[in-house]
Amino acid sequence: MTPLPETALPGAEERDKPSAARMQSHCVPQPLALVIFGATGDLTRRMLLPAVYRLFRQDLLPECFALVGVARDRQTDEEFRAKALASMEEFGHAPEDEATWARFAERLRYVGGEFDDPATFRRLHDCMAEVDGERSTEGNRLYYLAIPPSLMPTVAEQLGRGGLVAPAGDARWTRIVVEKPFGRDLQSAREMNATLHKVFDESQIYRIDHYLGKETVQNLMVFRFANVIWEPVWNRTYVDHVQITVSETVGVERRAGYYETSGALRDMVQSHLLQLLTLVAMEPPAAYDADSIRNEKVKVLHSILPIRGPEQVARETVRGQYVHSVEGAKEMPGYRDEADVAPDSRTETFAALRLCVDNWRWAGVPFYLRTGKRLPAKVSEVVVRFRPAPHPILDVVQGDRPSPNALVLRVQPEEGISLFFEAKVPGLSGPLQPVSMDFDYARAFGTESPEAYERLLLDSMLGDATLFARKDEVEAAWALVTPILDAWAAAGEPEPYPAGTWGPEAADRLVEADGHEWHQP
Ligand code: BG6
Repeated sequence: MTPLPETALPGAEERDKPSAARMQSHCVPQPLALVIFGATGDLTRRMLLPAVYRLFRQDLLPECFALVGVARDRQTDEEFRAKALASMEEFGHAPEDEATWARFAERLRYVGGEFDDPATFRRLHDCMAEVDGERSTEGNRLYYLAIPPSLMPTVAEQLGRGGLVAPAGDARWTRIVVEKPFGRDLQSAREMNATLHKVFDESQIYRIDHYLGKETVQNLMVFRFANVIWEPVWNRTYVDHVQITVSETVGVERRAGYYETSGALRDMVQSHLLQLLTLVAMEPPAAYDADSIRNEKVKVLHSILPIRGPEQVARETVRGQYVHSVEGAKEMPGYRDEADVAPDSRTETFAALRLCVDNWRWAGVPFYLRTGKRLPAKVSEVVVRFRPAPHPILDVVQGDRPSPNALVLRVQPEEGISLFFEAKVPGLSGPLQPVSMDFDYARAFGTESPEAYERLLLDSMLGDATLFARKDEVEAAWALVTPILDAWAAAGEPEPYPAGTWGPEAADRLVEADGHEWHQP
């Protein structure tokens, strides 16, 4: 057992502090080696490397830190460092200061080899021993699996066999961060959990959902639980319905290889949209810590009525696929025209659902979710639409009913919160008009929010699992999504929508059936 250094920044006590307390004290993790599997891949180059470097530059990493890249290619440490710098430049993160980059680069090491070859893990073992000696990383390891899900079981098993995993509770800690997709249905998610649990304890597993790392998503909890004015109206008595939209303008880009096996429901709804829903709908947790929060989120998922069978799925869900469109000079290809997409692909690029959170707080309040690619705007937002005023006193003035209040929580872009309410247009017989009170992050704080991956990497290094999905949470989400996937697989074609529009008309009908319409971002 390697003793903890005297100067260990956050000790065991610090690690056990609730997340909020640690957030305020700006903890620096204990000495550690971060080992990234998939070190030459897109995710590492675009997201992970820049995020780790930014943490380093802000002195948020310990002095005793190393990053070990693992991938198939054979290259030297020097080549890996040079490529790391090149990809920082390629993706617009060129280091401003050479000296800082040089201090960072000397902490980079590389191990090449196949993931199913025990020799790769023997080399990794030796490399880790060297790193512990050279960088005093104290035997603490954070493994990051930035690799396709099919390779995860192999890597987890090889890490176990190679003696590279310290048991939970050991002073030298080992943790593993697993990227999404975490399985492709309930059965495979359970199998992945079982495989990981052969080697890691649940407390060592960090299942990442980058939406939880977004500043505005975390602010949802602050908004609800640090202010008293929302709680009295945050329920079925006042809320008419909730809409969650995550729309993207991009198409499938160069990711058809993955997307063809996934589709919008697996790619976005099972993870990001259901995460947003749980944060909106959950009860106040007993404490701001990982288990209290995740317990409440799991309760929400368990309260959602499952949508099962062809008829219910046809009534409560919409599955769409973008098709070729021309608008003026702008022509957009259809999904089936994209590279590596099957010409008869039935993969959905749009999904909309009506969910019922069947508990004391939310019974009877529909939660509408929609997400899609090639929609008119890139927006992620939650809209809480309140009930209309109960008595039409002002109909005489306006001529028709006042619009109900709405609260719009904008996750991205133009992060902020707007509350819409009715006001009288000035004048002797002024009608009513909806106006808004707006809070804008950028204007209010004038500072840049940390990138989601920065927050999540730092939290996993600190041992704070609050913003990571627990085993029962991912399984509960898959339990909701899997029957829909099964019914869709047995149904016909997805409904077409012209690229650049808000999805199939059926998505409008889904909300119109309840007398509502989608909020246009
Ligand atoms: C990823 C999905 O998880 O989230 C992508 O795999 C999607 O398909 C992306 O484009 C959207 O994330 P963001 O942060 O851009 O909203």
